[in-house]
Amino acid sequence: MTPTAPLSPQRFLTGITTTGTPHLGNFVGSIRPSVAASRLPGVQSFYFLADYHALIKCDDPARIQRSTLEIAASWLAAGLDPERVTFYRQSDIPEITELTWLLTCVTGKGVLNRAHAYKASVDKNQAAGHDVDADVTAGLFMYPVLMGADILLFKAHKVPVGRDQIQHIEMARDMAQRFNHLYGEHLVLPEAQIEESVALLPGLDGRKMSKSYDNTIPLFAPRDQLRKLISSIVTDSRAPGEAKDTSGSALFQIYQAFASEPETAALRQAYAEGIGWGDAKQLLFERIDREVAPLRERYQSLLDHPQEIEQWLQAGAAKARAAATPFMGQLRHAVGLRKLTAAPVLPSKNKMAKTAVPVFKQYREKDGRFYFKLLDADSRLLVQSHGFDVPKEAALAVSALQKEGSHALAGLQGRLDIPAGVTQAELGEALAFFAAATA
Ligand code: TRP
Repeated sequence: MTPTAPLSPQRFLTGITTTGTPHLGNFVGSIRPSVAASRLPGVQSFYFLADYHALIKCDDPARIQRSTLEIAASWLAAGLDPERVTFYRQSDIPEITELTWLLTCVTGKGVLNRAHAYKASVDKNQAAGHDVDADVTAGLFMYPVLMGADILLFKAHKVPVGRDQIQHIEMARDMAQRFNHLYGEHLVLPEAQIEESVALLPGLDGRKMSKSYDNTIPLFAPRDQLRKLISSIVTDSRAPGEAKDTSGSALFQIYQAFASEPETAALRQAYAEGIGWGDAKQLLFERIDREVAPLRERYQSLLDHPQEIEQWLQAGAAKARAAATPFMGQLRHAVGLRKLTAAPVLPSKNKMAKTAVPVFKQYREKDGRFYFKLLDADSRLLVQSHGFDVPKEAALAVSALQKEGSHALAGLQGRLDIPAGVTQAELGEALAFFAAATA
């Protein structure tokens, strides 16, 4: 396949739901790598506080406001440069909710029925013998559409997220394809970016560090509290002098997330030589505190000056809207939300555009083999197959492409040619037409 040339610069976008206080797991898994990535040349980064998403899980206004403050202060303290990136609060961008409605109207209800978070609630109700939709808000159901609007409004190419969010990015792609198919090439198809190297940090009890397990270490806990929490990390009962196991040791894994390789090697050695748990905990405390102390100071001073953060967020919103407002105007026009004085599109032309659709053509060549090709609505060649020995094989390939869309391309590698100049977006859109028609 010919990959599409990346538009430069590459746009990265990610949102952080504002329902809690950042902990060490958030720092290692999200804040630290994102801040580092935002400094790379050739990338344009968007970071936002997803406070509309927070409303789906939290009905405590004070907590939402407090969490927005703490998360914003954490990112800034960790080195996010709001002059370099676009750092904003979701609810300051009215175009996000506006786009949410346009996307709602091109999203199948059946697709949303299959979203993991919604399905999990339904399954739980079912298991408990309750009404399937008991305590399920329409907000939870619409979560993926709001997230799609977050991403598509800023034409993000890459969305760095955890594995649990991949489905949402795929849904955003589908919304973009469907929209583009109906209204023309306006939306960029985003891709999830999963950071494989970022380990999940274990919490105090050894399970994944997570608010829902109540086993977190707050990122900016005061020194004394940090020391106390670290001393409560679970260990086994081996006495000082006995060799310790690094595998499965939460303490070791947390240390590794902060230490350099030589430091980690030194602790591994110390484990083998029977370091006491108390001493190991002291080492961990010192290592984390060394990294976090300077940030903690900035964090505290930001918390003491919320107006400073508020100013950054207002500036970020202005920067974000400078792009979002005109783009939303373009999208409104595309779907027909137009001034009555705007030049009308002739109904006949409109109809043509609606009836012309992509087609697969299957045929046999003089060489006796079986071929197919895919033409777009304007009869432009998008895919040309190589020869198949039997017609059934060609038909199976066509049917896979029709059912699975672009996902089927990987399995057909070496059996298809995609002419130069055909973009993945065009191909994806044409294939999405068949998937939508057969769904
Ligand atoms: N749903 C994401 C989470 O819970 C947060 C989020 C909201 C997000 N909108 C987004 C992430 C857009 C990436 C892009 O982690």
